[in-house]
Amino acid sequence: MGNMTKEMYEQRMEQEKAKREIVKSDPNRLRFHLQPPVGWLNDPNGLCQVDGVYHIYYQYSPFEPLGGTKLWGHYTTKDFVHFKDHEPFLYADWRYDERGVYSGSAFVEDGMIHFFYTGNVKLFDRDDYDYCNNGREQNTIHMTSKDGFSHTEKELVMTNSDYPADMSTHVRDPKIFKKDGAYYMVLGARDVDSHGLLLMYRSTDLKDWTLFDRLTMPDFGYMWECPDLFELDGELFLVFSPQGLEAKGWDNRNVYQTGYCRLDYDFDTKEYAFSLFQELDRGFDYYAPQSFLDEQGRRIQFGWMGMGDAPYTNAPTIERGWQHALTLPRELRAKDGHLYQTPIVEIEQLRQEKYESSIADFADPGFGKSYEMIVTFAQSAPFSITVDDEATLAYDGSVLRLMMNEGGYGRDERGIEIDAVKNIRLFKDTSSLEIFVNDGWTVFSSRVYSTGEPSVRIEAQGEGTVTMYALDSIEMENA
Ligand code: FRU
Repeated sequence: MGNMTKEMYEQRMEQEKAKREIVKSDPNRLRFHLQPPVGWLNDPNGLCQVDGVYHIYYQYSPFEPLGGTKLWGHYTTKDFVHFKDHEPFLYADWRYDERGVYSGSAFVEDGMIHFFYTGNVKLFDRDDYDYCNNGREQNTIHMTSKDGFSHTEKELVMTNSDYPADMSTHVRDPKIFKKDGAYYMVLGARDVDSHGLLLMYRSTDLKDWTLFDRLTMPDFGYMWECPDLFELDGELFLVFSPQGLEAKGWDNRNVYQTGYCRLDYDFDTKEYAFSLFQELDRGFDYYAPQSFLDEQGRRIQFGWMGMGDAPYTNAPTIERGWQHALTLPRELRAKDGHLYQTPIVEIEQLRQEKYESSIADFADPGFGKSYEMIVTFAQSAPFSITVDDEATLAYDGSVLRLMMNEGGYGRDERGIEIDAVKNIRLFKDTSSLEIFVNDGWTVFSSRVYSTGEPSVRIEAQGEGTVTMYALDSIEMENA
């Protein structure tokens, strides 16, 4: 039973082979970002590294560029330059996940990968049920794998009746955190009164889970998606994607937000306090990130360079049969309770031709559609950087904003108050921009669909230097 079994997928892929070719020929295809081979992509899932191989799974609807039943697509890499595109890892082929293998994560221990994900089930084949309180199962499912390619049978760990009685039917996106020999599973949830919260389960064997705690903040959205709890620099951080926050000034301007709080948590008394929520990214397209610890001990995070339920269904890639991408992989570091994000160092392997100048003497070297641009300011002063006459990053001495023209297909501007801008590291890919500000203190990630000649301009009242690199494509092999 299931909505998209492996056989159904293979048959349909065969029938729709031509679609893949149309996707490949799209001038908006990205060169150094992960994107769906065809169809739709959303959250990164199951991120892990085993035996030197990084596994990057993702929410994947191969036949619907606007999203449909979700599978787990699968990429691997050893060096973040050479990638392999594998057949989907998980199909919606079971009674407990027949309407989608939703987001989940990997926990690696003693050479074994434990996957936990949400099996989505819709009990009525119609939409007129009460969206929150019946008609849907969100099952927590577990299986293991040694190599990330084949897996044991799916086992049901928890279903609706195992969650607290006051939960709505929205409970999902399990992530595992280990502390003092015990395992904690965090799940994002919405209660029957539409308050977002975090459910925390505890286990000593990764099999039997008991409810340990529930954590929330007053007036903080109706649903918390994709929680990620981890320790960094001796502190506990909760990264999550809350839905239902009110926009205030430059904050919370997207449909949904993604950010983090430091969490002071006493595992004995269960007393806790969240620090102020900080958005991780100020661009238009950033949601549902997930992090993992790699074999070198780095905390690496990928986000979805897209936005759930965004009212922009006119992205030009849709008519070519695909939509969305993952962000560059970012290393997270904590300093004074703040999370800094920088592209992992492997990305530097893509650097080709180099250009250097002062800001005053800057002349566009014509690196085309994919490059890295590093601007270091001698003193903080107003400036603007304009890419393809479509996207402008402008600082007026107090607010740094990203403004879009036509290539933003309907999006206007986003911003952040910032006392001083010291440096900018901008990654331009064919149809995306990621701008790291002040050594990764904040980031703007957005898709931008330019149609004219590629160009880049900088105007600045202060002095500084510009370094640019043309960037090569990553290599993708069909496995
Ligand atoms: C976040 C999300 C998750 C869910 C998945 C379904 O974008 O809504 O909460 O598991 O996407 O694709």
